[in-house]
Amino acid sequence: MGALKLSLGLLFLLLALAQAGKNFQLFRQYILKQQEERAIKEISHRLRLLVQASAPTTWIPPIESTIRQPLDHFNRQNPFTFNQRFWINEEFWRHPDGPVFLYIGGESALSMFSVLSGHHVEMAEKYGALLVALEHRFYGASLNPDGLEDHNLFYLSSQQGLSDLVSFRLFITQKYNLTVNNTWICFGGSYPGSLAAWFRLKFPHLVFAAVSSSAPVRAQLDFKGYNKVVAESLLNPVVGGSRKCHEAVAEAFSTVDSLIHAKQMEKLAKDFHSCAALTEASDLVELVGNLASVFMGAVQYNDKGVVWGSVAGLCRIMTNSTGSPYQRLMVVNNMFLESMKEPCLENSHKKMLEELRSTNLSTSGVGIRQWFFQTCNEFGYYQTCEDSTCLFSRLITLQSLVDICSKVFNISLNQLPEAVAFTNEYYGADLPKASRVLFVNGDIDPWHVLSVLKNQSRSESALLINGTSHCADMRSSCPTDPLPLVRARKRINAQVGEWLELAQKITGGS
Ligand SMILES: *[C@@H]1O[C@H](CO)[C@@H](O)[C@H](O)[C@H]1NC(C)=O
Ligand SMILES: *[C@@H]1O[C@H](CO)[C@@H](O)[C@H](O)[C@H]1NC(C)=O
Ligand SMILES: *[C@@H]1O[C@H](CO)[C@@H](O)[C@H](O)[C@H]1NC(C)=O
Ligand SMILES: *[C@@H]1O[C@H](CO)[C@@H](O)[C@H](O)[C@H]1NC(C)=O
Ligand SMILES: *[C@@H]1O[C@H](CO)[C@@H](O)[C@H](O)[C@H]1NC(C)=O
Ligand SMILES: *[C@@H]1O[C@H](CO)[C@@H](O)[C@H](O)[C@H]1NC(C)=O
Ligand SMILES: *[C@@H]1O[C@H](CO)[C@@H](O)[C@H](O)[C@H]1NC(C)=O
Repeated sequence: MGALKLSLGLLFLLLALAQAGKNFQLFRQYILKQQEERAIKEISHRLRLLVQASAPTTWIPPIESTIRQPLDHFNRQNPFTFNQRFWINEEFWRHPDGPVFLYIGGESALSMFSVLSGHHVEMAEKYGALLVALEHRFYGASLNPDGLEDHNLFYLSSQQGLSDLVSFRLFITQKYNLTVNNTWICFGGSYPGSLAAWFRLKFPHLVFAAVSSSAPVRAQLDFKGYNKVVAESLLNPVVGGSRKCHEAVAEAFSTVDSLIHAKQMEKLAKDFHSCAALTEASDLVELVGNLASVFMGAVQYNDKGVVWGSVAGLCRIMTNSTGSPYQRLMVVNNMFLESMKEPCLENSHKKMLEELRSTNLSTSGVGIRQWFFQTCNEFGYYQTCEDSTCLFSRLITLQSLVDICSKVFNISLNQLPEAVAFTNEYYGADLPKASRVLFVNGDIDPWHVLSVLKNQSRSESALLINGTSHCADMRSSCPTDPLPLVRARKRINAQVGEWLELAQKITGGS
């Protein structure tokens, strides 16, 4: 196999969000598409260079295949199964004793880029690792045609997901005749970051160590902290925030709330290009959620590709001295809709519920129905705006979000606190008492407050990166990366190297 290096700038990230609103979905799709386009551009560039240089190399694309999994790992008598997708990249593997890097999938479809692009791929090249990636059950193509029916969704949980990793590990071990000399290290970001830490925590005999990026390991029903960090990040000069920006955003949303209070529905519908009249109270909640989503997304992703996609870009618009903050919010909304090629803003709560109820399969993108089910059943994570620090509308209440659980899945509000408490009890929340786990977070990212931010012990350590957002460390290195991110990747790399050395001492192997 040739020495073709695929150092793609971006990786197909899996970005957890309980936000069900239309705009957040559009934002997320946009980010995924941007990353895909950039990745493909970089691959073609790289391949073109190789052809020009007549490099003696053949590029073997990753193996894509499926493994048959039991639908229910906890009832061996249940005969039902489903096919789970995985990818393997053997390109860098130092046969037969090199390590295995397991990339864990989450709440959206994976692709071959999960074994071709990202910091874990750079490290696989350095350490001669076999790269394997497993798509999460019920997302992407990893489910049966009737998989999204309510009665099947009950087989979607983090516990079943971890058990899928157990059988996948066994499958790979058999396929490649692996021995104790092949050290397994797992990687994941966002929800899969939690799974990476939990795989090491619950199955220490199966995986030697874990890098857990932007992992919200503490489940929380009312996730007030999300919008608290959004407000702080809009104030943070490191990413282009300012007091002026923070104040303008607060003022704009306060004007929206006053108009709602004054029953100026027609004006609101017109100013924000609502697809339909705002007749129901629940449609108003959608409207303010959609408007807030652009700011939440800009902080979470901080993508500089478009002006509304980053903190600096949004703050530039919001602090423009032309017009009132409310008018600048209209400008943000217009720019967003234009970029998304959306003719109008979809504020229908009824349509949103229909979409969450739909069992139509889509083998790409984020599984919004599935992820919302997991929030209702395990994690909560509802990004409310009832706290005084929140800059957006007070209409974004916990009640408005958990209502969706009962309306869509018939899961009652009474069950939720206990479900969340069980998750924290089961995994240890942000004090997981694992070993050989490195928790990595960015301090701009709203999710970091639910993760492990301080060293727990010598072998369970934490790294908080100044000025970066969700899962930034997982992307491939890029010349424009800020210094704290460069340093963080160096430290992650060194930690992985130390683990591999330690493993060698323990097994006496490679
Ligand atoms: C694994 O071992 C079996 C039996 O020894 C052998 O036939 C097979 O080729 C080996 N597979 C790999 C991938 O090395
Ligand atoms: C400020 O807003 C006006 C009117 O929307 C626009 O023409 C101008 O380009 C903006 N200035 C900056 C610096 O964005
Ligand atoms: C689901 O698929 C059916 C049949 O193709 C279609 O009529 C319906 O609009 C789809 N629903 C959603 C929410 O996409
Ligand atoms: C919803 O749940 C309740 C109690 O768990 C049950 O009695 C009811 O039949 C369920 N409704 C539907 C539509 O499934
Ligand atoms: C956390 O642990 C790492 C080593 O695992 C060490 O380099 C770092 O200085 C520690 N940080 C703090 C704040 O103690
Ligand atoms: C982050 O870096 C900036 C300089 O870019 C510095 O002013 C700030 O104090 C740092 N923040 C923390 C929490 O270390
Ligand atoms: C592991 O590697 C060591 C050193 O190369 C070798 O002696 C040993 O047989 C290997 N163990 C297995 C199970 O292959």
